[in-house]
Amino acid sequence: MIIVTGGAGFIGSNFIIDWIKSCNEKILNIDALTYAGNLENLSSIENNKQYIFKEANLCDSSLVKEIIESYKPRAIINFAAESHVDRSISSPYEFINTNILGTYNLLDKTLEYWNGLEKKSKDNFKFIHISTDEVYGSLGKEDNAFTERHPYQPNSPYSASKASSDHLVRAYNKTYLLPTIVTNCSNNYGPFQFPEKLIPLCINNALTGNEIPIYGDGLQIRDWLYVKDHCSAINTVLEIGKVGNVYNIGGNSEITNIDLVHKICSILDKLKPKSSGNYADLIRFVSDRPGHDRRYAIDSSKIASELGWKPEHNFNAAIEKTIKWYINNNDWVSRVKSGEYTNWIKSQYSNK
Ligand code: NAD
Ligand code: TYD
Repeated sequence: MIIVTGGAGFIGSNFIIDWIKSCNEKILNIDALTYAGNLENLSSIENNKQYIFKEANLCDSSLVKEIIESYKPRAIINFAAESHVDRSISSPYEFINTNILGTYNLLDKTLEYWNGLEKKSKDNFKFIHISTDEVYGSLGKEDNAFTERHPYQPNSPYSASKASSDHLVRAYNKTYLLPTIVTNCSNNYGPFQFPEKLIPLCINNALTGNEIPIYGDGLQIRDWLYVKDHCSAINTVLEIGKVGNVYNIGGNSEITNIDLVHKICSILDKLKPKSSGNYADLIRFVSDRPGHDRRYAIDSSKIASELGWKPEHNFNAAIEKTIKWYINNNDWVSRVKSGEYTNWIKSQYSNK
């Protein structure tokens, strides 16, 4: 049995679905079901006997302790987080609460459980913390990609809260010997991503005839990782990753935001032509995000050489597959766009 947290979110739900397809081991999902947590993502496996769901907040230490102690996992993978940079700028509190205090609680209850295990289970146990390349700060155009040794220089409340949680995870390993691993990945894309993030927002706005906002000059660069490749990397780390280590996971697919949005628009022109004009006509330049990081790029050579992992999906093919998924799952998009989502989008556009 393994436990994942945040399994009703974008990456966690993809991870659980892939897990159930690939093995028979049980998987328990702890999720607080915030605005970003959606059990519908898991409807295809909700009745599978391998899968267990527990609604709980990471900050609820007694409930988290009870779940860990009763299910006795061989590993815990911490996906749960507040994850959207723009939200962290308008209201940082939840980011501090979940990403720092929540991670602390989970670590502390995991440590209590791990200390009580017998030697063999103790030796085999792993705590994997899913983090982000954003903790490393921003790169210049010509800089080398982030390695695991790059200094932490977070620039947003989101990345600062993730950086704090990474440091706590490291400290629990160094101080208490809890067998932890941190993974820092680049921007993910794929099915079930909440449509506040650039790729699903662009697809959704294009399909509904709404403007596609580009922050600043649109020349910021991200290194896109298909979520299924990210899940396979986490599985590799779970099985053969070395305790106490950090692994960077990237997609080797750097592109500027404006080029990415043009690419999405032209794929949509081909897949679902508009009755008049092109989807790119909807692109609008808006005010920049404060503290906006210019470029992220991940050097994945450590995980490639030490664990033999590399991304399998080609960016052009996987982005088209992703766009088709959003076209075919329009009902899912409509349902997640709850009142809360609408309020958030309104508040964003009124400031730009
Ligand atoms: P997400 O926002 O889609 O999902 C987060 C999940 O965590 C949701 O199901 C939510 O209900 C749950 N959650 C939030 N607060 C909680 C709490 N206090 N207790 C329990 N559950 C809680 O996020 P995601 O995109 O799936 O990201 C997963 C992890 O990967 C995060 O740690 C994020 O920082 C990291 N990450 C994401 C990306 C990306 O591109 N999406 C890139 C790098 C790193
Ligand atoms: P996002 O998906 O929020 O991920 P992150 O900030 O974690 O990298 O944004 C990806 C990039 O796209 C980032 O440079 C900000 C930019 N962006 C826009 O230009 N317009 C938008 O509406 C959004 C949501 C993001």
